[in-house]
Amino acid sequence: MYEKVTMLKPGSTILVIGATGAMGKSVIKALLRDETSSRWKIRAFTRNSKSSHAKQLENLSPRIELTEGNNDDAKSIETALIGVDGVFCNTDFWTCGSQAIETEQGLRILELSRVANVKHFIYSSLDDCYRISSGKLPVPHFDAKAAVEAHIDRQRDEGEPWYTGHTTVLRTAPYFENFQSYFLPQPERDETGQTVLTFSIPMADKKWTMVALDDIGWFVVHIFANPATTIGKTLAIASDSLTIKEIASLFTEVTGISAIYNEISLNDFRSSGEPGAEEGANLFQFVQECGLERDFEELRLIHPGLLSFKSWLEKSGWQGESVSVQKLLADLGVTAKR
Ligand SMILES: NC(=O)c1ccc[n+]([C@@H]2O[C@H](COP(=O)([O-])OP(=O)(O)OC[C@H]3O[C@@H](n4cnc5c(N)ncnc54)[C@H](OP(=O)(O)O)[C@@H]3O)[C@@H](O)[C@H]2O)c1
Repeated sequence: MYEKVTMLKPGSTILVIGATGAMGKSVIKALLRDETSSRWKIRAFTRNSKSSHAKQLENLSPRIELTEGNNDDAKSIETALIGVDGVFCNTDFWTCGSQAIETEQGLRILELSRVANVKHFIYSSLDDCYRISSGKLPVPHFDAKAAVEAHIDRQRDEGEPWYTGHTTVLRTAPYFENFQSYFLPQPERDETGQTVLTFSIPMADKKWTMVALDDIGWFVVHIFANPATTIGKTLAIASDSLTIKEIASLFTEVTGISAIYNEISLNDFRSSGEPGAEEGANLFQFVQECGLERDFEELRLIHPGLLSFKSWLEKSGWQGESVSVQKLLADLGVTAKR
């Protein structure tokens, strides 16, 4: 019933779920840049094709078409899947704010893609913090995706042909770009009265593992272009892993702007009263205690141009200012503040 896996043909249509978001846009830009002359056609899934983000996306290329729908609405997904060869799916925890709903969305999109016999489906996942920490550290925006990944694993283990022959899991990591939004460094006076930018993530002396949005896009193109080595597999990616002290020091080295690590304890972060503080603290504690396991040697073999934090700073030209990265923050009118 399911044909043998072959490479998607040039001109194939890729449905991108989460297309107008930070990750989706980076994936679409990488598909448009793809030098294998695949000339992908992109169907960008959005709840509102008239939003400024959707319009900006559409204006990037005549190869992009917008399609309206909602991850909660099966009918709209079915319609969006008509004539689609590949899917890249990044569901969004923060809009629905519910682990159960996000997992349901992922399972729904997968099942409808299986029924539509999509040739290559890439599921954007995150680490299973709850399971790995033996239930100690729930991180719902990670665990929701991990539950969908676990479903994919179970189907593959049972030899279900579509999951075995047509899916790839891409386990990503926190973006470098979060420093431009959620984790914007704050100016403070040091003991000499000079202004320094302070990076304040509660990671003590442990490493924080991150990925460049550009690298996510690169890996998605790689996966679609290399089904023989990626189908039926899970690829856990990241670009770099550094202590926050190293991050501050590299920032100073590249920009010439004084920066330090302002060490904040997990308890202080947890009790800050900020929205998402409990979940964020659990994630930081998880990364401190369990780490985000990534094989950088293997990743660099696959992608020799993997961006280090230093090379990302050089490439982006970021000088510590606030940048609009996540669509949701823009929609809510939230700008990372100084
Ligand atoms: N920040 C990080 O470091 C990081 C790293 C890895 C993974 N993630 C995960 O990425 C997800 C957020 O994606 P992002 O970073 O691209 O955020 P974003 O820029 O805020 O984008 C959110 C995207 O989700 C879409 N969306 C939200 N609810 C939807 C629904 N019900 N139906 C259809 N589309 C919906 C939005 O589309 P429209 O508004 O156009 O409908 C938009 O494209 C989160 O779940 C997060 O866990 C984040």
